[in-house]
Amino acid sequence: MFRTSVRRFTTTAWRSAEAIAQMETRIKRNIEISKAQRIAQRGLVDAIGNTPLIRMNHISDQTGCEILGKAEYQNPGGSVKDRAALFVVEHAEKQGLLRAGGTVVEGTAGNTGIGLAHVCRSKGYKLVIYMPNTQSQGKIDHLRLLGAEVYPVPAVAFENPENYNHQAKRHAESMNNAVWTNQFDNTANRQAHIETTGPEIWYQTEGKLDAFTCATGTGGTLAGVTRYLKEKSDGRVKSFLADPPGSVLHSYIQSGGKLTERAGGSITEGIGQGRVTDNLKPDIDLLDGSVHIPDEETIAMVYSCLDQEGVYLGASSCLNVVAAVKVAQKLGPGHTVVTMLCDGASRYAERLFSRKWLEQKNLLTSIPKGLEKYIVLP
Ligand SMILES: Cc1ncc(COP(=O)(O)O)c(C=O)c1O
Repeated sequence: MFRTSVRRFTTTAWRSAEAIAQMETRIKRNIEISKAQRIAQRGLVDAIGNTPLIRMNHISDQTGCEILGKAEYQNPGGSVKDRAALFVVEHAEKQGLLRAGGTVVEGTAGNTGIGLAHVCRSKGYKLVIYMPNTQSQGKIDHLRLLGAEVYPVPAVAFENPENYNHQAKRHAESMNNAVWTNQFDNTANRQAHIETTGPEIWYQTEGKLDAFTCATGTGGTLAGVTRYLKEKSDGRVKSFLADPPGSVLHSYIQSGGKLTERAGGSITEGIGQGRVTDNLKPDIDLLDGSVHIPDEETIAMVYSCLDQEGVYLGASSCLNVVAAVKVAQKLGPGHTVVTMLCDGASRYAERLFSRKWLEQKNLLTSIPKGLEKYIVLP
């Protein structure tokens, strides 16, 4: 009896010593490879980027490919746009356009404003945001809560001088020590992805990736990541635009460069474009193709990412994930495809998980069988 329990004790003790040693090796290794865990010496701005690259287990197993999502929702402002926000502000500083106590002005209805608000607070700048007055009170409140001065203005076409972008530009021009960061055509935005997102993906995969895909708003992410990965891999890594309904870029690419009128719309926010921005222009010819993703597939992926992968993602991220599956199917088993998980679902939860909203958008029947339990809002 005594001998048995001694034996049991020593075996357990040996096992746990071995387990501890293994755990310590694992921790050491992770600490070595995870530079992201260093102290963010310059404050919050140093905590932007270095996001995890998550294997999407279910769809990877289903396609026989490795489908990896860059967890941009882990940025301090909760989205991929923190990277662009930091680079446009630091570009203005380097150009001498912004000095201590200065003001940043931008036209944005979404994540760029939130990213800018965090960067501006951290660096001591004021932030002024112009946005179309069709945006939700929630978005206005969020920006005001982060210290921004917000001007909701009538939603008019870009050609109209009262469009929110032109008003933002004029506001900055009317002040001293103020800059309009112009996210759509300021290529410091694309540069953020050449210098950070692209290299992170390359080093996280140790260069073993075959394709990248994502949608575009300003085009900064797709252009910058594509440029970096193409150069680093001597053109081996393929890159595909993912496009929502209401955007002209898919047909632009498929037709070999014909720009059509914008028509229709999508449930996705922050993506879809009516023109080729200055951020996208230098790199659009590097693309290997494009995929059009209907809202029905995007909304189904919102629910299955939550249920099967455990990730709570906004619609633009889920459109990217659908695109990554299509690219994986096109390339065949054994390939690695990377995409962007741009932001989380909380900003859109009132809509994405509301029965009434899904019915209004004719999307209720697109929710996969058995996942209706996530429609928790009336
Ligand atoms: C949620 C979301 N996804 C994707 C994008 C597109 O990123 P980019 O502007 O780099 O094309 C944006 C841009 O605002 C966004 O807010």
